[in-house]
Amino acid sequence: MSKRSRLASFFSPDPKPKVNVKSSAFHKKDLQKLLSDKSPFGVKESYGAIRTQLNFARKSEKCPVFAVTSMTPGDGKTINCINIAISFAKLNKRVLIIDADMRNPTVHKFFSLHAANGLSELLAGFATAVNFKTTNVDNLTVLTSGDTPPNPAELLNSEQMDKLLRLVREHFDYVFVDTPPVSLVTDATVLAQKVTGYVIVVRPGRSDLGDLKRGIGSLQALGAAISGFVCNDADDSVRNSRRAYYKSYYYKRYGYSYEQYAAAGEARDDD
Ligand SMILES: Nc1ncnc2c1ncn2[C@@H]1O[C@H](COP(=O)(O)OP(=O)(O)OP(=O)(O)O)[C@@H](O)[C@H]1O
Ligand SMILES: [Mg+2]
Repeated sequence: MSKRSRLASFFSPDPKPKVNVKSSAFHKKDLQKLLSDKSPFGVKESYGAIRTQLNFARKSEKCPVFAVTSMTPGDGKTINCINIAISFAKLNKRVLIIDADMRNPTVHKFFSLHAANGLSELLAGFATAVNFKTTNVDNLTVLTSGDTPPNPAELLNSEQMDKLLRLVREHFDYVFVDTPPVSLVTDATVLAQKVTGYVIVVRPGRSDLGDLKRGIGSLQALGAAISGFVCNDADDSVRNSRRAYYKSYYYKRYGYSYEQYAAAGEARDDD
């Protein structure tokens, strides 16, 4: 029996998500968006600011675990989860990314890894040892999603997940969990009592104020801590405008735009 069908036969499937969660495909060009020494100053500075903020939100935990999420698909959860993790790894901290987006996993693609033999197999009890995978970034380790199971939320809500988080808290300094969007499936919210807090990615022009309020409300109703917001892909006109949700919420200006990134890259190429 294939691993996928073994996973399928073991548990009842989670209810169908409201819309297709496989919305954003990974493009090779996305690799250029990874944080590196060559990233523009503003990009490095933004992630430095996020890092500082998250250190204040760690609640004195030896190894904080931050779930990175957003309300809708394609807001930039994965790229920001990875870049925040890289910014901590650069400080010689032992950092782990767990790809808990088992429906639409992409973390492995950024590091040319295979998704299989990761989180889903471990949580379903088909693997006994945790298959940590090293990456080409010093100090950065990944636990890939594993094969897509029929019941991701059930697996994430399990005692096995608690056991895994206890184990990784012993071995790492920071853990970042990439998750699917809150408004579509419950996978991210079931971690409310398991993680230190949530980092919520907001993408101006795409994120809807109503969704955001409802999503934050449901996380808070579950007792979750909101550790911070990342304003992703905000251009100056949006940042400076008085659009609806800026009136209601205060976002730290962590965000940056890849358009700026691209422009800076082009400027470098011209040098
Ligand atoms: N600031 C940005 N500027 C330009 N492109 C961006 C920016 N942030 C994200 N993207 C692009 O948008 C796409 C979606 O990003 P990403 O996969 O990180 O989002 P996601 O929220 O994880 O999506 P999903 O909900 O499907 O998992 C990717 O191609 C990514 O490179
Ligand atoms: Mg993603």
